[in-house]
Amino acid sequence: MNFDKELERKTAEAEACVRRYLPQEEGFSGRLAQAMNYAMLAGGKRLRPLFLQESYRMFGGTGNLAEPFMAALEMIHTHSLIHDDLPALDNDDYRRGRKAVHVVFGEATGILSGDALLNYAYEAALHGFDLTKETSRVVLALQILAAKSGLYGMLGGQSVDVDCGGKVLDGDTLISIYLNKTSALIEAAFMIGAVLAGADDEQIRAMEQAGRKIGLAFQIQDDILDVSGSLSNLGKPVHSDEKNQKSTYVTLYGMEEAAGQVKRLSGEAVEILKRMPGEKEFLLHLVRQLITRNK
Ligand code: IPE
Ligand code: IPE
Ligand code: MG
Ligand code: MG
Ligand code: MG
Repeated sequence: MNFDKELERKTAEAEACVRRYLPQEEGFSGRLAQAMNYAMLAGGKRLRPLFLQESYRMFGGTGNLAEPFMAALEMIHTHSLIHDDLPALDNDDYRRGRKAVHVVFGEATGILSGDALLNYAYEAALHGFDLTKETSRVVLALQILAAKSGLYGMLGGQSVDVDCGGKVLDGDTLISIYLNKTSALIEAAFMIGAVLAGADDEQIRAMEQAGRKIGLAFQIQDDILDVSGSLSNLGKPVHSDEKNQKSTYVTLYGMEEAAGQVKRLSGEAVEILKRMPGEKEFLLHLVRQLITRNK
């Protein structure tokens, strides 16, 4: 397998899938749709849809049932990014290599386009019912999507993250924030792929654990890149955490220990994934490659 070629091909597939579910920029609320699409079409690694698709295929999923959920998850993720950049949250002006939505369209449209994407995600995911007779799988996937995005998932994490700006946190609190703000959506990706393909409960729990570790590793690497990366590579400002006086894994433990932890957590996730049935060479390579990502 030529990994780089495969990554390019699979990312292009995820991209095409996401695009099929975006709104038309016309009619009464056309400007809101324009802001939603501005954020959605600015690039982005499309990792969550990729993880969802790989999990679905790994457990033997065929056809296009994963697609509405891939689009939905990327919409919820993008909603989180639009709102994360707002003046009331991290107050950052760049995202995915462009001016942030609130800078281009104003703060009100920043807020509303984030809300609209969060809602449109469910409008997209509900199309899952049109694609299968296994409606109980779609119901469970929707439950996971909703739970991992909300109060006891990503949004809960974001709220504590914002409340903790300016405070020195202990390690356990920091990890709880990361598990919610970042791991939760990655757990959703792995779990939903498995659920839609008909994996059993034990396998779904294992995929949640893999997602948990990959999410933590991903956020710690994000903290590292906030210190050592560049705007041109990342497409978003560096030193945002310092500006907002955030405790991060790097401020608590230092760069070297942070990098070591990314490697350890990713290795543990790989071991969990290896115990799952099905073809996973690409997925394992992807998880390992993220350890040293620079964007
Ligand atoms: C950024 O996520 C926010 C975090 C959870 C650290 P990504 O790094 O996946 O952002 P995009 O989607 O590629 O822009
Ligand atoms: C990301 O945390 C968590 C989200 C749910 C958006 P950050 O605030 O560190 O993400 P970036 O660095 O702005 O992408
Ligand atoms: Mg933030
Ligand atoms: Mg931020
Ligand atoms: Mg960050």
